[in-house]
Amino acid sequence: MTTPSDPASLDVLRQRLAAVASLDAAALAAEEIAVLGRKQGELTHQLKALATLALDEKRARGAALNALKLEFEAAVVARRAELAHAASAAEARDIDLTMPGRQLWVGTRHPVTVVIDEIVAIFREIGFAVALGPEIENEERNFGALNFPPDHPALDMHDTLYLDPRGAEWPVGERLLLRTHTSPVQVRVMRAGPPPYRVVIPGLAYRNDPFDASHAPAFAQIEGLAVDEGVTFVDLKATLTHFARRFFRPDVKVRFRPSFFPFTEPSAEMDVSCAICGGIGCAACKGTGWMEILGGGMVHENVLRNCDVDPERYTGFAFGMGPARMAMLRYGLPDIRLLYGGDMRFLSQFGAAGR
Ligand code: PHE
Repeated sequence: MTTPSDPASLDVLRQRLAAVASLDAAALAAEEIAVLGRKQGELTHQLKALATLALDEKRARGAALNALKLEFEAAVVARRAELAHAASAAEARDIDLTMPGRQLWVGTRHPVTVVIDEIVAIFREIGFAVALGPEIENEERNFGALNFPPDHPALDMHDTLYLDPRGAEWPVGERLLLRTHTSPVQVRVMRAGPPPYRVVIPGLAYRNDPFDASHAPAFAQIEGLAVDEGVTFVDLKATLTHFARRFFRPDVKVRFRPSFFPFTEPSAEMDVSCAICGGIGCAACKGTGWMEILGGGMVHENVLRNCDVDPERYTGFAFGMGPARMAMLRYGLPDIRLLYGGDMRFLSQFGAAGR
């Protein structure tokens, strides 16, 4: 430290003042304390020492020191602002505005879900409610109540996924299985209360099938059930024709072919004119111009009886369709594994479009 009266001490302070403009942030902080600090600061020290000087010397030196102090303070503030500015400029330089953005992962609905929602919406418009049931069922609801004879081949472990392979030990009808269709929910709906019923039942079904172009071991179904007084086959045809026109296009042609299911009598399969070729005949419809989209029929009187519904008073129709198949027909997909294979590159193309 210089002595108070030493004129050189002012020069030293002026030199330090001049140097402020080139200090870095840490040095600036240290220099501020070293010069202006209230206890140890050099300038503070010099100002305090004025008290020991003669009056005229005190006045001149005091004025000079005070001017220097103001300048020093201003220089520190200016340098600090400069450093802050430089820091944010450097930070800005670190942002590469040409770098591609990070892609946000936005989930999309599965194409089969898109189709299910759409089918359900069409039936809701005409007064159907949604009913749901469990994927684990017993043999009685999956088969027995639905009028399958006990020796029906569907009951074979070859086709049905039983949950307990020692199933023979279970009482007949109580063996647990993965439902092979959504039809057992018909039974649940009818047993839950008296008619009328007007429901659609979306859900998964399971079969012991190989995963190939047209089969999946787990697949979606949509069941329909309408039971009331005076329901006829005309209602079935009108309802399903309306559905096909809404789902495909207003000018789609439909035809019903006789078929068989244990739980409907009579039974039918419905075809629509090929969505790909418009009915001319192509690979998708195997040259026939028609594509089968669902099975249905009038609820068998045994089924009504098994579910405590009086067949003398009530009649009804039921139908079942595979939304994956509907999606394949609509989008012209050749292989069900595209839908149930879990390849996001394929699946994410559909859901985003929504309805
Ligand atoms: N349950 C049948 C199936 O899985 C479809 C169906 C439902 C047929 C309702 C008639 C009535 O193939």
